[in-house]
Amino acid sequence: MRELDSISTVGVVGAGTMGNGIAQVAATAGYDVVMRDIEDEFVDRGLDAIESSLDRLVGSEKLSEKESESARDRVTGTTDLDALADCDLVVEAAVENMEIKQDVFADLDEVVPEDVVLATNTSTLSVTSIASATDRPDLVVGLHFMNPVPVMKGVELVVGEHTDEAVVDLAHGFAEELGKETWESDDKPGFVSNRILMPWINEGIRAFDEGVATKADIDRGMKLGTNVPMGPLELADHIGLDICLDATRTLHDELGDRYTPAYLLKRKVEAGDLGKKTGRGFYGYD
Ligand code: 3HC
Repeated sequence: MRELDSISTVGVVGAGTMGNGIAQVAATAGYDVVMRDIEDEFVDRGLDAIESSLDRLVGSEKLSEKESESARDRVTGTTDLDALADCDLVVEAAVENMEIKQDVFADLDEVVPEDVVLATNTSTLSVTSIASATDRPDLVVGLHFMNPVPVMKGVELVVGEHTDEAVVDLAHGFAEELGKETWESDDKPGFVSNRILMPWINEGIRAFDEGVATKADIDRGMKLGTNVPMGPLELADHIGLDICLDATRTLHDELGDRYTPAYLLKRKVEAGDLGKKTGRGFYGYD
């Protein structure tokens, strides 16, 4: 296995919200980053998102102009999977679909040297099943970042059935290099974070749909009453309603009726109102 201190180039598969966030924090920590997506348009959007997030960090004096520029320069965007061949660690942040993730891991297994650790940012899917698409399940681990990645302190580390202990140590060390703190979860549906967060969001949606309170009062109530930064409906819009629905469906499939997705969540996703990213979810956004 390639050791932490020999990692200089990090590959990121997926340039979406999570992928570009992971690429950004890795570049800010001094790694060269190759960020790959399937279309130029997605890669360009990811690079733009990194640029504006770095600008925000400069604006709030968390990063100097110079640090921001060098972080930006360390990220290379590509649509070519072979460009990941020289990476010392790869983090996958493709869409939350088992078939797609297994395809990506089977391809990575061919392209990336056999001593390189492959991490997945999956939020609810089984790390063990994803790893089974490779000939190196011992080198596959879950590194589940939180959104927005540049701001959130925590990373959830998910240990698959065959994940080697040295790989778990490397994943802790890598997350720390990115300035994050970790907690560990066994490879069980939703891990610690989404197993507990998604039913909270889902129940908030149900409470709104069943007329318990206005959406604003549900969010205000949970913020004022439990000191969280966002209420369940705001947080659902922030994460993306499609992502909340996929995660809740996985939990429901694996763990049963207590995780049945709220009817209103399904209706909103079918209507294309996915939250902040489409300009409308439970609230409207400019
Ligand atoms: N890049 C850089 N900086 C950013 C940023 C980004 N993408 N997003 C926010 N910031 C910065 C802002 O510039 C601001 O900096 P400042 O305080 O120095 O001026 C600071 O973060 C706070 O942002 P805002 O003032 O715009 O807004 P808030 O105070 O409301 O904070 C928030 C925004 C950090 C998103 C906060 O509301 C929050 O922590 N919300 C909860 C988020 C959460 O729970 N995330 C986890 C979701 S679960 C998950 O991701 C798992 C997945 O599998 C579903």
